[in-house]
Amino acid sequence: MKSADSVIRLFVCTAQKDEVGKEVVKALKTELKKQGLKKLLAGGEKRKVRVQTCNCLDLCKQCKKGPGAALIIHPEGTVYGNVRPKDAAAIVHEHLGEGRIVERLQVD
Ligand code: FES
Repeated sequence: MKSADSVIRLFVCTAQKDEVGKEVVKALKTELKKQGLKKLLAGGEKRKVRVQTCNCLDLCKQCKKGPGAALIIHPEGTVYGNVRPKDAAAIVHEHLGEGRIVERLQVD
């Protein structure tokens, strides 16, 4: 049986009025494809990456009130705030590809 942990999920809030979250989802999917990271090796394990929309993550200060959307990377739990479509490349490259937190977007 496959463990649920073999999938890395990016949950992106799409509850803003201006729909920036949907644009962030699109940009993340495009970058995953472009950078060839829809499947990757993390911690010696093969993982699939999925980008999913979700409702309010209770991080609205980092979402509704800023220029971008909030997102959570599951299962590790990293939270990014005010993510704009132009930030998708860095999240995919640095976080997923290289395993480094994108500090300028991280929310505690
Ligand atoms: S509206 Fe996006 S976190 Fe609340």
